[in-house]
Amino acid sequence: MRNSIKKGLLASVIIVVLSFLGACSADIKDEDSTNKVKLSLDDNKIYVGFSLDTLAEDRWYKDKDAFETTIKELGGEVKTLAANGIDSVQIKQAELLIAEGVDVLVVVPHNAEVTSEIVEKAHKANVKVISYDRLIKNADVDYYISYDNKAVGKLQAAEILKKVDKGNFAYIGGAETDNNAVLIKEGAMEVLKPYIDKGQIKLVFDKYTEEWEPKKAEISMEEALKEQKNNIQAVIAANDGTAGGVIHALQKNNLNVPVTGQDAEVAAIKRILAGTQTMTVYKPIQAIAKNAAEIAMKAGKAEKIETTTTVNNGKIDVPSILLDPVVITKSNIDETVIKDQFIKKEELE
Ligand code: GAL
Repeated sequence: MRNSIKKGLLASVIIVVLSFLGACSADIKDEDSTNKVKLSLDDNKIYVGFSLDTLAEDRWYKDKDAFETTIKELGGEVKTLAANGIDSVQIKQAELLIAEGVDVLVVVPHNAEVTSEIVEKAHKANVKVISYDRLIKNADVDYYISYDNKAVGKLQAAEILKKVDKGNFAYIGGAETDNNAVLIKEGAMEVLKPYIDKGQIKLVFDKYTEEWEPKKAEISMEEALKEQKNNIQAVIAANDGTAGGVIHALQKNNLNVPVTGQDAEVAAIKRILAGTQTMTVYKPIQAIAKNAAEIAMKAGKAEKIETTTTVNNGKIDVPSILLDPVVITKSNIDETVIKDQFIKKEELE
């Protein structure tokens, strides 16, 4: 599948990039996907590059494992590189994968706009690009696979309203550079709007959280509590990481108010059981990773790919598949995350 031009490029780019990538290798846990450049690839196999923003949240390990497993089951080869949340690193790693002769590149963008450069570079080398979980904006992305992120926000707001539908609310968002964080917020605000318009709910604090960092979310929450003299009745936190920070700040002030989350991380499920977090949103990672791996293999073989919808990324309508997120509360943990073996019961002890 690979052509000789790509291989010719390989030697020069490897020398430049190898030393640089050494700095990022701590991110990669398993043997197969170390940053060592593979020089002895089987030419008959589809070779897939997986470019991750980060492995900082638990979920991305699950994505990586399920994605790599499926590619191998389908007879392909795969290499995953994670960029530690650094744009320039993600671009260099993508360049390396392209130079290595990947047939297709699957990208979880750190920055929705900056990664458009990866799409351009891949296309120049005749490599298709699949945007995974997060949309690359303003670029000719070939396919997009994700969960319905607006629905994630709607589910968060709807669930919190079941607990409290008046008073002072705080919104602690994700990273503004991540298109998902923007969509999740849009979804939540759509549900809250009628209550805000009636004056029943007051949005007293509203801030994105750089890099989705729990510590930064905690600082924001402390700021909100200080400003409002602890008079806050509910918090919509964009994911479990930020929820963790928020809950820490609440606890320091002896408060326990409804808080949302997303990702169904073990820590969050434990908090739900303990009664400090109200809900999380479960996005079955197996489903997105398997689907993406199947699409990647088909794209690599230039086969036809069925999509279900399109999502506009500012430049084009990207053929897309959007999977459904699931609300998790105390009442359905067993029949969802445990049943799917997303989390093992022992992990919750
Ligand atoms: C988002 C993703 C969430 C969460 C977050 C932090 O893009 O949709 O599930 O993991 O990133 O990495």
